[in-house]
Amino acid sequence: MKPLLSAEQIDEGVSRLAAEISVFYAGRPLTILGVLNGSIVLVADLIRRMDLPLRVGLVQVSSYRGPSPAPEPPQFDLSSTPDVQGRDVLLVDDIFDTGHTLSGLVERLRQAGPQSVRTAVLLRKHGRRAVSLVPDHVGFEIPNQFVVGYGLDYRDAYRNLPYVAVIEVDEG
Ligand code: IMP
Ligand code: MG
Repeated sequence: MKPLLSAEQIDEGVSRLAAEISVFYAGRPLTILGVLNGSIVLVADLIRRMDLPLRVGLVQVSSYRGPSPAPEPPQFDLSSTPDVQGRDVLLVDDIFDTGHTLSGLVERLRQAGPQSVRTAVLLRKHGRRAVSLVPDHVGFEIPNQFVVGYGLDYRDAYRNLPYVAVIEVDEG
């Protein structure tokens, strides 16, 4: 495993994100929705640095990746997500890779009548975007390599690492 972002670098990046988002919403109430499971560490750190009236919820996403090269569209479970009607919503995820997850989720949430939907991610993988959506707030742009730590997993392991590291995997 090769370290990519130290705990100190992440700390600075999260503070930068929190400040940027707070300035954008300028005191307006905001509903933060973290995408499970990868965003839990980021959400926990981010919300404690944000100077805004916040509601915080979570969205369950299952992206089944079968044997075929074309991934299935992700499924969203909003049953335990707070109501977003008329709200300004910020979706928070660990990483923007192809963008299918966040793009699909933005579309799905729009059906629930929010005032606005925007997105924030800790990491954006270089040269991978396959959707028209561009994330609004990005902590770090990273090379196209598989990373773990700070919420990101490989087969459900490594989410608890306080730093982000590149890991050699036989799939990606
Ligand atoms: P997307 O839909 O292709 O943008 O993929 C987003 C999801 O894929 C993220 O929420 C992660 O769960 C997962 N993912 C993509 N790249 C990585 C990585 O490098 N490490 C760990 N998980 C990743
Ligand atoms: Mg994952």
